[in-house]
Amino acid sequence: MTPVASVLTDANLKSALYILAFALFIYGLSGLTGPRTAVRGNRIAAVGMVIAVAATLLVDPINNIVLIVLGLLIGVAVGVPAARQVRMTAMPQMVALFNGVGGGAVALIAWAEFRETGGFATEPTYVAIFSIFSALVGSISFWGSNIAFAKLQALMSGSPKSLGALQLPVQVVIGAVALGAGVFMIAEPQDEIFMIALLVAAGIVGVMLVLPIGGADMPVVISLLNAFTGLAAAAAGVALDNQALIVAGMIVGASGTILTQQMAIAMNRTITSVVVGGFGGDSVAAGPGADGAEGGTVRSTSAADAAIQMSYARQVVVVPGYGMAVAQAQHAVREMAKVLEAKGVEVKYAIHPVAGRMPGHMNVLLAEADVPYEQLKEMDEINQEFGRTDVSLVIGANDVTNPDARNKADSPIYGMPILNVDESGSVIVLKRSMSSGYAGIENPLFYNDKTQMLFGDAKASVGEITAELGAL
Ligand code: TAP
Repeated sequence: MTPVASVLTDANLKSALYILAFALFIYGLSGLTGPRTAVRGNRIAAVGMVIAVAATLLVDPINNIVLIVLGLLIGVAVGVPAARQVRMTAMPQMVALFNGVGGGAVALIAWAEFRETGGFATEPTYVAIFSIFSALVGSISFWGSNIAFAKLQALMSGSPKSLGALQLPVQVVIGAVALGAGVFMIAEPQDEIFMIALLVAAGIVGVMLVLPIGGADMPVVISLLNAFTGLAAAAAGVALDNQALIVAGMIVGASGTILTQQMAIAMNRTITSVVVGGFGGDSVAAGPGADGAEGGTVRSTSAADAAIQMSYARQVVVVPGYGMAVAQAQHAVREMAKVLEAKGVEVKYAIHPVAGRMPGHMNVLLAEADVPYEQLKEMDEINQEFGRTDVSLVIGANDVTNPDARNKADSPIYGMPILNVDESGSVIVLKRSMSSGYAGIENPLFYNDKTQMLFGDAKASVGEITAELGAL
């Protein structure tokens, strides 16, 4: 072996490169804590992944390099255009799909390991245990993520589907089949049909886990399945004695778990209540100008009136929500803010942690429209300012402004922290109708004496307001 070849295949080089890759993963991840550093953080972590892959390919003996390169090329050819072309509103289903692929890959690795080692006959027991775990959880994650993708992509109905009273018993029985097959394989080498039975049964459990969950709860479920995939990958890393897989898997597992928990807390739900099912189904609709359940009356306004009110304001707080994302109104909002600022009005943006349908949804959209970061105010900070705000302009936000979360103990969102827009001098709400938001409940803010509704698509309404502002 030449000196260069012996250095390249030295196990110490692999360890050193892995440590460099881990450092880059963690440094990159820390960049994802803010929109300003997120893109750079992502790139740094990607460089870490390239180093980890290169280290693995360099050092370990490779028999099928052609297949590996082919796989990498197919992955790049599919992944890069898909990630470039995806719309921001379709990001949750893309994450579901990518996560599913990860879970499926881990399950297939476990299956390959089973075949290569004669049903783990040549391996110590711990390898069998960790491989079985990764096959089980990877398969659940793959099939569960595919159902989540199909619901979000409207390839199937997003409404909850279950076997009713039979759901839990059937799930327990199928889960027991998967576990039983796993225990047999750990105890002694078995025929391949046991591994296939385990993968199929775990897949059915994954499907049954996600089918009863409403389409709107999917982001939390995807985050949970993401944590599952991470754990499965880490287990595969233990089985294969690959530190890169262990560390990357644990980072995904830990961050997925924390994210799931934070989303559940911000939505005032428990993870169990999301998994067992709950709101997130169909929305309640009433026509513009309808009377509220509390007996209040809805007041409509025009773009011209909204423009006049805002042009006389000292401070306007924009409250974006899911509807701004649907309407893709972020650029129009930025243009409107520029006109207001030129008139001496101070404009700030109130960012609720779960506004929209994915973590950081509003930050990403507003950053895309070049809204200065210092104008984006987190909930705790901006809530202290509504008292001295003249106009709050609510753009396609609903649940995150619902005062019932503070005042109505029997409301499904009672206890959820909200943006206290009702404390501002006046509130203008831009939405298309009186339909409810994600939680499917009425919002008394719309019947408040201070509130005026500007009905229409958010992008069109903001454009009209800007035109009126320009004419003043
Ligand atoms: P929502 O409460 O879902 O309300 C969005 C509103 O936007 C709807 O009432 C809708 O009313 C309006 N809208 C839709 N398309 C529009 C358009 N083209 N133009 C104008 N308005 C439009 O949104 P939110 O206040 O952002 O709250 C988010 C909700 O999602 C919370 O309940 C949260 O718990 C949940 N959630 C969030 C996440 C994350 S991580 N962000 C994950 C899962 C669930 P019209 O139909 O009348 O227009």
